[in-house]
Amino acid sequence: MSDFDVNAYLLRCAALAEDFAGNVLRPERQLPSELYSAMRYSFFAGGKRIRPALAYAAAEAVSGDGTSSIPFGVAIEMIHTYSLIHDDLPSMDDDELRRGKPTCHVKYGEAMAILAGDALLADAFAMLTEEGMAGRYPADTLIKCIKEISLAAGGVGMVAGQAVDILSEGQTLDLPALEFLHTHKTGALIRASVMTGGLSAKASASELEALGRYADRVGLAFQVADDILDVVGDTETLGKPVGSDEGLSKATYPSVMGLAEARKRLVELIDEANEFTIPFGERGEPLRAIATFVGSRNN
Ligand code: IPE
Ligand code: IPE
Ligand code: MG
Ligand code: MG
Ligand code: MG
Repeated sequence: MSDFDVNAYLLRCAALAEDFAGNVLRPERQLPSELYSAMRYSFFAGGKRIRPALAYAAAEAVSGDGTSSIPFGVAIEMIHTYSLIHDDLPSMDDDELRRGKPTCHVKYGEAMAILAGDALLADAFAMLTEEGMAGRYPADTLIKCIKEISLAAGGVGMVAGQAVDILSEGQTLDLPALEFLHTHKTGALIRASVMTGGLSAKASASELEALGRYADRVGLAFQVADDILDVVGDTETLGKPVGSDEGLSKATYPSVMGLAEARKRLVELIDEANEFTIPFGERGEPLRAIATFVGSRNN
């Protein structure tokens, strides 16, 4: 058993990401302050910051130092926050609690919530292309990272998964269709976190390949765990409503294969993910610890 303290690691990564993001998001005193207030409200509501932590851990696995990953982890966390704001809208999952607080549209109204999400998405890319970034990273690294993130966020990534999620309400999906849904709506941004972390630290082709295989398992596992928690979790710990999926007849792992099988699949995926960290030796420990956390998380 490793004595690696994953909770301390996640808190450290969260603090680094939040510090950086504090300077990226516009101050509330700037006009239109309602917009900037809504963006900050949802971004700083809490959240595990798993994506910045995965980026950090991937960079650390490659180079021994995760610092190079921070702007990419923050960009992805901004995009993730936008996806949550839109996911909670009345036209999507219609949820009223997120990160332990009223959802963005409940607090600011639907129009401002849509706009806050829109701005978080575009501003993430604006930040990645600021002058300081060009001084800090080689141009081809920046372009590769922006490509990873934009593909993962858009119509062949997270948005495709969200579309299938909505279209599948009330439908019975087979396992390949369900896997497509999960690897896109959640897996894509998780994969982009790991890959951009690796790219920022100048990973070799073989290191990127191992990171990609790790990330694919963790990304799918993350949504399998999310589905399980919607059944067995509690609202206070999760900071979002349980039973939301059943209420909307969503396609989930527990609904398609039953809770026990879903749990088994989760354990398998984490074991597989951890196998792919072996080439990184000791430096892969944070990646292993985060995968193990994803397999046993209760929030
Ligand atoms: C929730 O993501 C939505 C999914 C993509 C499963 P997280 O569980 O990472 O939510 P936060 O960021 O910690 O609030
Ligand atoms: C993940 O799916 C959604 C996103 C890509 C934002 P869910 O709809 O299951 O996420 P939660 O459970 O509301 O956090
Ligand atoms: Mg949803
Ligand atoms: Mg939802
Ligand atoms: Mg869910």
